[in-house]
Amino acid sequence: MEKFIIEGGAKLSGTVRISGSKNAALPIISASLLAEGKTVLHNIPDVKDIKTLIRILEYMGVKVRFERNTLEVDPSGIYRYTAPYEFVSTMRGSICLLGPLLAKYGQARFSMPGGCLIGARPIDLHIKGLKKLGVEVLIEEGYIVGKTPRKLKGSNIFLGGNFGSSVLATANIMCAATMAKGETLIEFAASEPEIVDLAMFLKKMGARIYGEGSHCLRIEGVKNLKSVEYSIIPDRIEAGTYILAGYLTRGSINVKNVVPGHLFSFLDKIEETGVSFKSRKNSIETVPSGRWRSVDVITLPYPGFPTDLQAQMMTYLSLAEGISTVTEKVFPERFIHVAELNRLGANINLDGAKAIIKGVDRFKGSKTMASDLRASAAIVLAGLAAEGETEISRIYHLDRGYENFEQKLVALGAKIKRIKS
Ligand code: EPZ
Repeated sequence: MEKFIIEGGAKLSGTVRISGSKNAALPIISASLLAEGKTVLHNIPDVKDIKTLIRILEYMGVKVRFERNTLEVDPSGIYRYTAPYEFVSTMRGSICLLGPLLAKYGQARFSMPGGCLIGARPIDLHIKGLKKLGVEVLIEEGYIVGKTPRKLKGSNIFLGGNFGSSVLATANIMCAATMAKGETLIEFAASEPEIVDLAMFLKKMGARIYGEGSHCLRIEGVKNLKSVEYSIIPDRIEAGTYILAGYLTRGSINVKNVVPGHLFSFLDKIEETGVSFKSRKNSIETVPSGRWRSVDVITLPYPGFPTDLQAQMMTYLSLAEGISTVTEKVFPERFIHVAELNRLGANINLDGAKAIIKGVDRFKGSKTMASDLRASAAIVLAGLAAEGETEISRIYHLDRGYENFEQKLVALGAKIKRIKS
């Protein structure tokens, strides 16, 4: 296994180019199964989650070519419609294959994704929506088995759960509805930029979708969808991670290839801590500042504060002046990073789904272990700001969602290296 060794304290400055969004790429690659012919996708990040999805598609008989961030998908040779446990358990996001498989091929047999370190990952909303469209769903021996005895039929679907909207349930139901007979209304749909990107991709293929970006989608079913060429949006979570790296190391990082509008709630919260940044059409540049103020953060579905930046924000607030709170309303158990941050000198206490963070003067380097994608990014950020050396083991978690992570950090002046342990 590999680990990172970070010599903390270096000021990071310069320009970093943000890669394509992993969470836009996964549903869009899956949706390309709906097309007749070969789809060409650009700006696809070269990260482990994408490679896992490619392995599942190849297992099904789909032809896939992935070179220099361009991915070609040709489903004409597909002969299997199942995703075994060993694939799905390593990447829950593969659940977004369900909708396209059922809409186009009328069948799917998928391992239940199971929970992960950020909490239980139920799929009741996915199943509810698919059933409303006419899919027959069975759960047998840990697998979801879906069949469509007849063509899917449009329906009115309320897709809100106890924690609000669901990103991948919205992706699945929107995909399935594009080829259903008649009209589908999805109430309390997710409005994340990744869902908007998926809708734009499907509309380019000929789907009739209205309301993307709002919580109410209307989809008129069409007979078939054509294969297209498409470039996906930048990764707003990667961008937020580098913006925080700028403040934490008191450097000025110009984060390029971002859509500032995708980071509105995050930037608003950062501004509330008393630091500033220069926002341009497709870049955000951090302005080095002294000590920032504590704030209260509550994670919510988009356009609220993104849960995927909660861990990284906790690292940032650990060095703030005063006491901050972080309340996790999307994944209430998403605090696996707290123990590791405290080992680096943070002072964080948990009270259910709320973390109380007492600002400290500094992090002190230590041996740590990565555990979940975003929690691991939070530890890297702490290591960059810490005094002394930080070692992070099991960094394969980071490779799932951060393209060329250490190379981008070294280019900004970080003292970080990957070694085999
Ligand atoms: C997507 O996961 C992202 N993953 C997650 O990013 C992200 O944290 C999450 O959306 C929230 O923004 C991908 O896009 C691949 P949800 P998803 O369904 O769709 C509950 C990362 O680090 N829920 O929006 O699986 C659920 O338990 C990953 O890149 C149900 O109750 O998340 C949660 O509390 C981590 N029933 C809330 O909804 C369901 O059927 C939001 O989950 C589905 C979800």
